[in-house]
Amino acid sequence: MSNSKRETFSGRQAFIMAAIGSAVGLGNIWRFPYTTYENGGGAFIIPYIVALLTAGIPLLFLDYAIGHRHRGGAPLSYRRFNRHFETFGWWQVMVNVIIGLYYAVVLGWAATYTYFSFSKAWGEKPVDFFVGNFLQMGDIAQGVSFEFVGMVVGPLIAVWVVALAVLALGVQKGIAKSSSILMPLLVVMFLSLVFYSLTLDGAAKGLNALFTPDWDKLSDPSVWIAAYGQIFFSLSICFGIMVTYASYLKKDSDLTGTGLVVGFANSSFEVLAGIGVFSALGFMATTQGVEVSEVAKGGIGLAFFAFPTIINEITPLGEVLGVLFFGSLTFAALTSFISVIEVIISAVQDKLRVRRSKVTFIVGLPMMFVSVVLFGTTTGLPVLDVFDKFVNYFGIVAVAFVSLMVIVANEKLGLLGDHINETSSFKVGFFWRLCIVVTTGILAFMLFSEGAKVFTEGYEGYPSWFVNIFGWGMAGSLVVVAFLLSRLKWKSEVLAEHKGE
Ligand code: PHE
Repeated sequence: MSNSKRETFSGRQAFIMAAIGSAVGLGNIWRFPYTTYENGGGAFIIPYIVALLTAGIPLLFLDYAIGHRHRGGAPLSYRRFNRHFETFGWWQVMVNVIIGLYYAVVLGWAATYTYFSFSKAWGEKPVDFFVGNFLQMGDIAQGVSFEFVGMVVGPLIAVWVVALAVLALGVQKGIAKSSSILMPLLVVMFLSLVFYSLTLDGAAKGLNALFTPDWDKLSDPSVWIAAYGQIFFSLSICFGIMVTYASYLKKDSDLTGTGLVVGFANSSFEVLAGIGVFSALGFMATTQGVEVSEVAKGGIGLAFFAFPTIINEITPLGEVLGVLFFGSLTFAALTSFISVIEVIISAVQDKLRVRRSKVTFIVGLPMMFVSVVLFGTTTGLPVLDVFDKFVNYFGIVAVAFVSLMVIVANEKLGLLGDHINETSSFKVGFFWRLCIVVTTGILAFMLFSEGAKVFTEGYEGYPSWFVNIFGWGMAGSLVVVAFLLSRLKWKSEVLAEHKGE
């Protein structure tokens, strides 16, 4: 396949839908509300907006510039940018490999719970039901066991098949098309959920708990770190995803205008999710006669413990709320999951230069297999938790820090800025470069402060052999594998194209 035939999005709108599809995911629905609540409520809005404007959006532009200028997946784009940068691209690919393996699991759970919502299949004790049927984790101190968990495996395979089918259809017909259908649907469903939640008894109590500002928190560095962490994860920046998607944009695309739309749309959805989730939690607290602080949760606890309980308590329309909530979670996670796998597919396709459908198969089948063996079994949750911390936090912050540092040190920002300005409506200049430099420093701080903490205190009480192997060992080996992959030769014509001039 020659490069002139590289797939493209049909236009700006298709790209925006795909990029929003990637950005809006679990992070918006189950991470943002609780992160805000824990980190100063209404006052968190300040670090959050600072992080969005000075790190999120500038880095989004940077990712776009790299992919658009060099027209390749992450490894090829970095390689064409500078022959010594290729490892960063593979490192990002490896991060996506790991994230993909477990994102699929949560997606499978969400899809299953959408179905369960129709009959409230979790019964009177949702927590016991979830733990008993989905986690069944053994005590990892006794070693890791590989027993299959019935309710997890089927849906897990199903979400892989759906995502791979979409990816095999290609950039426009698969990725953009699916996001163009699912994103508007998501907005309609989620808005209905928010309006419905606002009418529940106690909604105001929940919103007060979420938004009442605790200004003192602003002097706590961990609150600022939480804001940056949320922005990075939520916008999917420095994951290679936006590099990859931007490489499918046509030549004369308005990069910054598009980036602003994506950035603000994503944040708007987060705030909306905060309102919906905390109204529902306020209702839960009110029916149980407790404070919101006792029911407020994020992540798995929110989705699979709190929401089923809330749905049980609402009569007669609890089922509707359930379908809206879990359906939203499923659609949001599916489009993000697709973007994760696309990074890998695009990288492999650049390397092998074979048909997309074939690459989808080569990448997808082994990943599906590993995902099912690792997470469809009783080892599941501890591995998922440790992966999440070490790859999704350390991995991503490390790759972002190292790659930015190298780009800045080699004085490459000007080049990328010029590229952005060639076709974009909103021009970047000194302030943009300054934001990137400052963000690089903040990333270093995040990496070393959190690293030192986990290093000395361990992680969540897991045995150290477990953290060493699945945490540090795995995160470190990604870098080694990335370096080795960057040693593989490219076909010579591949490198000759699009050096960026
Ligand atoms: N941005 C997605 C979210 O908010 C998460 C994500 C991060 C997806 C990185 C893919 C890669 O949930």
